[in-house]
Amino acid sequence: MKWFFILSGLIACTGKPVRSSCPVKMSPSRVVVRFGDPFSVNCSSPSNQIQSMGWESPYGTGIGRQDGVSSVSLKIDSVTDWDLQPLCFINLLDNNQCAETLSVTVYKMPDSVSMSQPSQMGPMVEGEKYHMQCDIVNVAPVRNLSVSWHKGNKIIYTEAFDKTSPSPVNTSSVFTLTAQRSDNGTQIWCEAQLEFSPLVPNLHTILSKSHEVVVLYSPTFTKPENETLELRAGSKIILDCTARGNPMPVYSWHFPNPIQQTKKNEKENQHILASSIQFPGTYTCTASNTQGTKTKTFTVVEVTRNRTTLAALVGVFLCVAALLFIGGFFFVTPEGTFSFSKGSYLRGQPTSSGPV
Ligand SMILES: *[C@@H]1O[C@H](CO)[C@@H](O)[C@H](O)[C@H]1NC(C)=O
Ligand SMILES: *[C@@H]1O[C@H](CO)[C@@H](O)[C@H](O)[C@H]1NC(C)=O
Ligand SMILES: *[C@@H]1O[C@H](CO)[C@@H](O)[C@H](O)[C@H]1NC(C)=O
Ligand SMILES: *[C@@H]1O[C@H](CO)[C@@H](O)[C@H](O)[C@H]1NC(C)=O
Ligand SMILES: *[C@@H]1O[C@H](CO)[C@@H](O)[C@H](O)[C@H]1NC(C)=O
Repeated sequence: MKWFFILSGLIACTGKPVRSSCPVKMSPSRVVVRFGDPFSVNCSSPSNQIQSMGWESPYGTGIGRQDGVSSVSLKIDSVTDWDLQPLCFINLLDNNQCAETLSVTVYKMPDSVSMSQPSQMGPMVEGEKYHMQCDIVNVAPVRNLSVSWHKGNKIIYTEAFDKTSPSPVNTSSVFTLTAQRSDNGTQIWCEAQLEFSPLVPNLHTILSKSHEVVVLYSPTFTKPENETLELRAGSKIILDCTARGNPMPVYSWHFPNPIQQTKKNEKENQHILASSIQFPGTYTCTASNTQGTKTKTFTVVEVTRNRTTLAALVGVFLCVAALLFIGGFFFVTPEGTFSFSKGSYLRGQPTSSGPV
């Protein structure tokens, strides 16, 4: 039956080349329906030359020829076939016959969407490549499936499938991730979606479980690799050896001076040293973890060029203090400030007096 109508349609077209298609209109013009759901379609013709019309469907759900009508509707209670191709046919008074196939897409949402990785999701190592797989079970039609990979709030990869099977298949998408330190702590998941146009309402996407990425990486200093610092009388020096790494780096220090070396033990595994630096020289800090060791050098130099300025400042303070003392105003406060500056200045003097 089906082939008969197609053949007659072709003959009709060859006989009258001007008419490129059958004078029928389908409403809706294409159908996207979930397996098991109902649908109905109207086929109508504007022609006034109709002898009969009907629907032909290979699964016996069609309705036969109806004489003297200008529309026929096909109603299917439950779609139970993946490849429905119903034909609306028309017989005209001049004995021409033609038919048109209705486009029906039968879909089924996946039973499951899951993500797997060969190394069973253990920690990753920076710079290494990891193949991650997203398995989609029992989905139809696969040519309308879109799989997207998400990392944090970004889509990092989207895959479409060009297989044409109308019935459900199992398929998978493979994404290769090159582990970066910035990936540590982010979530990765895949998402399956059926895409139709026009969009079918309430077609949800299906998400895999998300996986938290852990990336191991060697320590990197947050400040410049090496630093040069100036030791000034009365001011504090801060040696900042803070490094980022996974696992968390452990720190150790090396001091230039034997006296400070004895204090070293209490400084072990601190990332910042403050205050106690009193001697110029080269201080080193190492930050290490399972992925590597990095060394940072702090060169502490003593500042001597400001000596005259400082002396001048002290002189001014002395004068002010003297004036205030004479005037009898606020004796205690200026004296206190003065004593502090002087004390610090004098303490630095013995180590630096040589070259001057
Ligand atoms: C089909 O067309 C008939 C007549 O125009 C109308 O009564 C009916 O509601 C239509 N059915 C559909 C499913 O569009
Ligand atoms: C898809 O996978 C499921 C479960 O893994 C299995 O039961 C089913 O037979 C597979 N289907 C096809 C078409 O291979
Ligand atoms: C790496 O991620 C883990 C898990 O979220 C977190 O506990 C850890 O602090 C992170 N490490 C770094 C250095 O970002
Ligand atoms: C299904 O996907 C194909 C290929 O991307 C597309 O041509 C077709 O229009 C889609 N089907 C529907 C009903 O949108
Ligand atoms: C830091 O200093 C050390 C020793 O002085 C040197 O070997 C290293 O190359 C320096 N690193 C940088 C980044 O300058």
